Amino acid sequence: MDDFSGRFYNLYLDNLRQIALKWAVGIEGIGDIVDIGEEGLCLRLSPLSPSLSPSLLPQLQLCYNHPTFSPLTQLTPLTLNFSALWRRWQREKWSGAADPFWRALGAAGRPGQMLKKMRVLDATAGFGKDSLRLLFYGCEVYACERLPEVGCLLEDAFWRYHFDAQIQLPIQLLKGDAQDFLARPNLDVDVIYLDPMYPNRAKYKAAAKKEMQILQHVINSERDDELQVLLQLAVNVAKKRVVIKRPLWVKPLSLRTLRTITCHSCLGKSIRYDVYCITSSTISSPQGDNQL
Ligand SMILES: C[S@@+](CC[C@H](N)C(=O)[O-])C[C@H]1O[C@@H](n2cnc3c(N)ncnc32)[C@H](O)[C@@H]1O
Repeated sequence: MDDFSGRFYNLYLDNLRQIALKWAVGIEGIGDIVDIGEEGLCLRLSPLSPSLSPSLLPQLQLCYNHPTFSPLTQLTPLTLNFSALWRRWQREKWSGAADPFWRALGAAGRPGQMLKKMRVLDATAGFGKDSLRLLFYGCEVYACERLPEVGCLLEDAFWRYHFDAQIQLPIQLLKGDAQDFLARPNLDVDVIYLDPMYPNRAKYKAAAKKEMQILQHVINSERDDELQVLLQLAVNVAKKRVVIKRPLWVKPLSLRTLRTITCHSCLGKSIRYDVYCITSSTISSPQGDNQL
């Protein structure tokens, strides 16, 4: 490794140590204790590439190695590469009109050319694809994740993206439970986005959904009552709207709130976005259940 590559590598490792410290996880390969958490998740550094350049930095891999997870033991480790995804989106022609996620946000303008900057809290960030999409649209994003291994992978992926593209995207990662952040009095966001795991018994099909299969084994599904609490909190905090991604076959969540809201859905092929628009923040009398 020449001096130039060595500097990149050391910078990368230093940063990764900081990230691991923040998320309180160990990473196999940088001399820390390996964390094979109760969930069976483990973070590992990919082998060192002989020709180091910023885009060929080693990657953090999420491995999955608990004996009870036998159906998935054959899966290769999961890595995140946001540069490739971003480039792919840039090649696509996007008007926005055909994109239900964009429509659900209710932003003025076009993806990438928003007329007014929108601040979005992605309260269930997971592996960050939707957060990246929000950034691609031009939003400022807060992304919250409560699983430490997933959060660490996410933060590393964004760091590598920044390093690779030499662009600092306006994103802030929040470690912990979204319910705690939603309880903060000074949270100032236009839209709160929720993408919970599919309800019980729903199986994520196809190898392409590997990340979702892993999450499904680790957390099964978020309980409906917990989701209801999260949605309730979100509706009380968001300035403009709350958007929740749901499979087509589940019923929309009903809601009891003191704010005036209207509800509609934006349909995709296999999912839909249920949108709760805040039309007034006046707390007058209870609105009762607002069904979609
Ligand atoms: C279906 S995944 C989200 C996928 C994500 N939208 C993406 O594009 O990759 C749901 C994620 O939300 C996280 N999560 C669920 N409830 C949460 C909460 N209350 N606070 C923070 N994270 C939460 C889970 O740990 C999981 O990683």
